[in-house]
Amino acid sequence: MPPLLDATGTGRFHLAAQRGTTAFVDARTSETWGFNQPHLGPTLRIATGQTTAAEVQNTLDEPISVHWHGLMVPGDADGGPHQTISQGETWTPELSITQPTCTAWYHSHVHGSTARQVQKGLAGVLQIVDGQDEARGLPNAYGVDDLTLVLQDRRFDRRGQIDYAPAMPDQMMGFMGDTMVVNGQVGRTAVIPQGLVRLRLVNGSNARIYPLSLSDGREMHLIATDNGYLDRPITLSDLTIAPGERFEVLIDFSDGRDIALVSAPNPNEMMGGMMGGGSNESAFVVLPFAVDPSLPATKDRLPDDIGGSRPQGDGTGVDVRNMTLDMQMGMGMMMRRANDRFSINGAAFAMDQINFDIPRGTVERWRITADMMMHPFHIHGVSFQVLSQSGRAPAPQNTGWKDTMLVHGSAELLVRFDQGAARETPFMYHCHILEHEDGGMMGQFTVG
Ligand code: C2O
Ligand code: CU
Ligand code: CU
Repeated sequence: MPPLLDATGTGRFHLAAQRGTTAFVDARTSETWGFNQPHLGPTLRIATGQTTAAEVQNTLDEPISVHWHGLMVPGDADGGPHQTISQGETWTPELSITQPTCTAWYHSHVHGSTARQVQKGLAGVLQIVDGQDEARGLPNAYGVDDLTLVLQDRRFDRRGQIDYAPAMPDQMMGFMGDTMVVNGQVGRTAVIPQGLVRLRLVNGSNARIYPLSLSDGREMHLIATDNGYLDRPITLSDLTIAPGERFEVLIDFSDGRDIALVSAPNPNEMMGGMMGGGSNESAFVVLPFAVDPSLPATKDRLPDDIGGSRPQGDGTGVDVRNMTLDMQMGMGMMMRRANDRFSINGAAFAMDQINFDIPRGTVERWRITADMMMHPFHIHGVSFQVLSQSGRAPAPQNTGWKDTMLVHGSAELLVRFDQGAARETPFMYHCHILEHEDGGMMGQFTVG
């Protein structure tokens, strides 16, 4: 597990972005970046109903930013591309949290550099807690029966270095690795008690979508989506997690058998496979589990009421905003500048251009159309309801509160804008395939 940095008592935390070295595959080391450690960051735990004083220091030799993905905070605390932290500087936002318990995450968000900086390790998990998990009957012993799992894929060169040199196909499809990395580690096994175990899954990959299941076909019980708990668990045999998304599941290990979390190949392909990108890889192990009966299993019963909620709006009569996620093809793409290959509604992201302004408290219906391939669509500063996916009712895994949603064809989102964001620090909406985001598939808006 990443170390736990619990800020619920002190109401403050300090993160220092730093460089270090990490041995991934064998003794050979790679240059990596992290927060307070050589690679990735600690799991931050902050309390809802409280204001937490954050301190983010940049000891690297290029600008970074730290965006709190999933936190409902105003634009000036959001950490987007307009809030870069220069070399040697410290950023001190106040995180005033009133939203329900959830698993969020934090990562760098410098326009044009996000993909590379996240590959290097500028990412970590953030938990919002309310101290009620024991009463809910949910596993909550950090690293024992409550596991935080950041899923990433990497390529390594012959010297053991993280190999991030995206060629044109990597730019188009998004950069995919050939090695599974969980919490910054390769080839490890999770040792767990013989009972109910909670997995907080975070897809921190640049582009890979994981269609997850368990190796013996065992059920997973979905208890939370991006922005919080469901009302009651949803039983699933597979669960697809796209970049930026989080899901929490309970798995029953009481039979003592060792199984593995496995993934089918990345399902994303260009234009239904016509343009390639369809993979020839096979299913692979994400993380093996080994049951250790000497570890304390505190929960053996699946709670039937978790006390969360599912959005219930119907979107009737709500103003529609259309968004098309566009890609330039072939020569059109090759001829373009690196930050201009992708766009939304025909416009590539421009730092100095606000795409629209929304009055605070407004509800809108966003109709997203994904061009050529699937795109995980994310909006800052809000939690939304998925009204439909390609004209049908949302899949069970999309019926909770979400801030990131894998769009295959089209989707309709019902969004309420409650956090303010001024022109200097607007909110972003973008594809969470980081090569697409850096390449211009992003826009920005104010809420005032
Ligand atoms: Cu997870 Cu705009 O980002
Ligand atoms: Cu975000
Ligand atoms: Cu995309």
